[in-house]
Amino acid sequence: MANILSDQTTLFITCPLKLAPLLEQEIKSLGFIPESVSDVGVSIKGSIREAMALCLHSRIASRVLLLLKEFYVRTPMDMYKSVYSLPWEDIIPDDGYFTVVTSIDTKTITNTHFAGQKCKDGIVDRIRKHRQRRPDSGAEKDKTVIFLYWHHTKCSVYVDMSGTPLHRRGYRMNPWRAPMRENLAAAVISATVWAPYSMPFVNPMCGSGTLAIEAAMMASDTAPGSMRSNFGFMHVFGYDKELWRHLKFDAMEAKRECDMPRIFASDIHPGAVRIARENAKEAGVEDWISWSVCDVRNLTLPEQEGIIIMNPEYGQRLGTEKSLEEEYKDIGDLFKQKCSGWTGYVFTGNLQAAKSIGLRTSKRIPFFNADIECRLLEFPLYKGKKE
Ligand SMILES: C[S@@+](CC[C@H](N)C(=O)[O-])C[C@H]1O[C@@H](n2cnc3c(N)ncnc32)[C@H](O)[C@@H]1O
Repeated sequence: MANILSDQTTLFITCPLKLAPLLEQEIKSLGFIPESVSDVGVSIKGSIREAMALCLHSRIASRVLLLLKEFYVRTPMDMYKSVYSLPWEDIIPDDGYFTVVTSIDTKTITNTHFAGQKCKDGIVDRIRKHRQRRPDSGAEKDKTVIFLYWHHTKCSVYVDMSGTPLHRRGYRMNPWRAPMRENLAAAVISATVWAPYSMPFVNPMCGSGTLAIEAAMMASDTAPGSMRSNFGFMHVFGYDKELWRHLKFDAMEAKRECDMPRIFASDIHPGAVRIARENAKEAGVEDWISWSVCDVRNLTLPEQEGIIIMNPEYGQRLGTEKSLEEEYKDIGDLFKQKCSGWTGYVFTGNLQAAKSIGLRTSKRIPFFNADIECRLLEFPLYKGKKE
């Protein structure tokens, strides 16, 4: 059935800070043409169909927002009227439930909760006029999610096609210490020189296994959204169940079988390895990863050269544990003694501790892990002397 969400509009695909260039590359590789790139996302032209494909296939995106309308407003009442003018009765299903999420940066309003409430009132009043009853609404993000962005005098109203953010792939049943977000891990991997179909990927200090699992999903061409059973686009008029079934079927067909595991994950704690394995099983990529309980100092590497990547802890240590400096020095020793011919990577938010690695970097790529500024440090571990 034709519907406002089937019309071509702007899709704004968001990502964590600093990841937009990597997201742009990914979006191009998925066959879309980026229209613009900002600090926190990439815009393309599309409709609910393209949004569904992106929710299924993007490894780096946080959300896929479908633009309903942009307007210029001065007061909350102006915003209410503009929101009311949209055909919500054609967007939110009859027995639907919706929530409003806001991002507000305007002098006109300091109480963002009030702005969200006014936006919600506009939607409720419009639907009540058409259906003679009010729709359910609240704070849950598992049904229709409306996103209001208000910057100075410009307001943009979106439907969040992802619902809960896309980094929640659904495989991480149990976290271990300081797990990385799944889309951050995917972005970090895509910033390395790793060739997913042919090169070994060694991930000591694997924790809950996010880096190894994301790598295995890339090597096996597993669609990152294929484990999730719920997305925002499933809770709007215009959701085509049959199309979703086809998209998922094609994604399953494209999945590769494992010939030989080239991904090696380990951690000093047996509990971490157990949890990481369970998560990998949930992601359907357990066979792609060879697991072991191992101290980074005793690691042995496969013969074929590849990349070795680690995300050591970088916050405060508990009293009885090794100091961070000692831990980073162990990584440096491993790189120097056993990894010549490989490319080493350390993802960290503690550059002071990283000095204890004691090797020159060839790249220091900036990332944010939530609000902590981090770097992916690249170490070319030459065989013999550097030419
Ligand atoms: C920050 S966590 C890694 C988190 C991981 N990237 C994830 O997404 O779950 C660091 C891990 O290093 C492990 N670790 C600490 N010292 C180690 C050592 N000497 N050898 C191997 N693993 C170690 C810890 O057990 C912990 O799981």
